[in-house]
Amino acid sequence: MAGDIDDVRVRINIVDLVSQRVQLKKTGKNYQGLCPFHEDKRPSFSVNPLLGRYRCWSCGEHGDIFTWVMKTQGLDFPEALDMLAKQAGVELAKTPGVKRDKTEKALQLEIMEEALNFFRDQLTKSSTGQEYLASRSIDAAAVKEWELGYAPNVGEALAIHLQKKGYPLAVCRTLFLVEEDSSGGYFDKFRGRLMFPIRDERGELVAFGGRILGDGHPKYINSSDTPLYRKGRVLYGMNIAVTAIAKSKPRRAVLCEGYLDVIACHRAGVKGGVASLGTALSEDHAKMLGRWCDEVVILYDADGPGQKAAERAIEILKPTKLQIRVALMPSGDDPDTLLRKQGPAAVEAAVESATQPTEFKIDQLIAAHPEKNQTFWNLVVETLVEAPSIMEIERHVERLVSRFAGVEDQLYIRESVRRQVIQRRKAQRRPTGATIAPANVFAVAELQPAEATLIAALATMGLRRIAHEALVLPELFISAAGRAFSVAFQEAFGENPPTGEPSVWMSHLPEDMQDLVAQCESDGRFSNLSDRFVKDAIDKLVRALEKRKLQLLKQHDDPDRIAKIENTLRRIKNR
Ligand code: UTP
Ligand code: MN
Repeated sequence: MAGDIDDVRVRINIVDLVSQRVQLKKTGKNYQGLCPFHEDKRPSFSVNPLLGRYRCWSCGEHGDIFTWVMKTQGLDFPEALDMLAKQAGVELAKTPGVKRDKTEKALQLEIMEEALNFFRDQLTKSSTGQEYLASRSIDAAAVKEWELGYAPNVGEALAIHLQKKGYPLAVCRTLFLVEEDSSGGYFDKFRGRLMFPIRDERGELVAFGGRILGDGHPKYINSSDTPLYRKGRVLYGMNIAVTAIAKSKPRRAVLCEGYLDVIACHRAGVKGGVASLGTALSEDHAKMLGRWCDEVVILYDADGPGQKAAERAIEILKPTKLQIRVALMPSGDDPDTLLRKQGPAAVEAAVESATQPTEFKIDQLIAAHPEKNQTFWNLVVETLVEAPSIMEIERHVERLVSRFAGVEDQLYIRESVRRQVIQRRKAQRRPTGATIAPANVFAVAELQPAEATLIAALATMGLRRIAHEALVLPELFISAAGRAFSVAFQEAFGENPPTGEPSVWMSHLPEDMQDLVAQCESDGRFSNLSDRFVKDAIDKLVRALEKRKLQLLKQHDDPDRIAKIENTLRRIKNR
């Protein structure tokens, strides 16, 4: 599979691919055009054929051939691979399953839409239904947007309606609309309930949920799995949220617990609201979110079960490399009650103030371990191994070391925590491949010029080996971005410098780091590099490191070691 992916990378020219949608003009070694991801007035979108990457210098959107088709066509990675493999004439080892019979599906969808027409029509006629809406303060606009309906409390109203329209009730039965009784007649599945149509992310009507009016049991009835519907694959509200998600930056979904929470979110202006229905979040849900979003904010109840569910959701979402944040509401509230009690701003505030899962866990560690001993640092390592990105690991290492390690231990603890985290991550390495990463994590401007020089040197074959030697030493790097790059680089390549096609070895780096290479490579300040330039950059960084060590030691008065370091510094100067 990895071989296939690399074949596709080598054979697809990113300039040709992007040109199918964006008019590009050659400027220097790169190509430029108007960015398709935002309202672009001047061409700020650039394509780098050497590295096989695109990037917008204005909105920060970036990626490779796979993310390009994923983002511009809403495909997931297997679909994108499939499509590009066809274009490239590469035969993939594994082909996806066969398509379902079209005409059968068309009939099923038609029946579902007819059932929805019936429910909506019934709601306008039902005073009980209207009273319930009022009691929940659901206004006409929400009824219209969410296509709410009412299933009358009569045994077979829908069955009769569908039969009159000429639909075979045996098919309606497979769609969880009607049920067969012992005498061969049919009766309705949903009776006396407020009806929520459930559309998949493309807008196809695949299921229904029905809430009892008032108290009673069961509170909700949901379609079970049908030929059109698998509950682990559909998120309520996704069809409406996708438009808003695509426009937001980062592209954010807000994951809630139920139907009325989703509706409440949207009414509060939180337009990315979605929910898994009558089921815990599944891997397929997570994949779908990964396809459309950069970030998911979990907005569950603050009570015990809500928190437990949030923890499970974090675990499910983790493999996607989505940014995850957790927003907890006041105990006893859900978005619906919060909106009604405190207004839209409270719902928005809950989402905005959501914290990172790692931060959340580390804060718990800090509180649980007043003494910052070996156990504490071991648990820190354990937590950081699970962190979503190198950048986040670095952020926490910096924060924790400067707060809790004594001056004399700082260098040691920093290196040791970092080394252990990297080793553990390497051992349980997740598969590489294209993922949609949040845009604009690192900018070349955050790097020291010497650091950017080393990263840019990777793009030149003759300099790659020299740069490699320094790039695997995180401690050499001064800026957070540089250090994070070095950690990622070391994790990807270790002792062996990258060789071969750049677009292929680049794909071993995390997406944000690939982007950083492209940024450095395209920066005029770091073009036309020579041996001398790269070696000077390394010297500069070594010297700065020795100075940092010296500073720390001077505070501790260790004349032997101080003399040693001063020696090293002199040697570098005389080179
Ligand atoms: P809740 O019990 O929190 O209901 O269940 P809710 O959405 O807040 O509804 P109100 O405000 O009490 O009217 C959360 C979600 O769990 C699923 C539904 O999707 C519901 O929206 N659920 C709940 C069921 O599928 N079946 C049930 O019997 C209960
Ligand atoms: Mn509720």
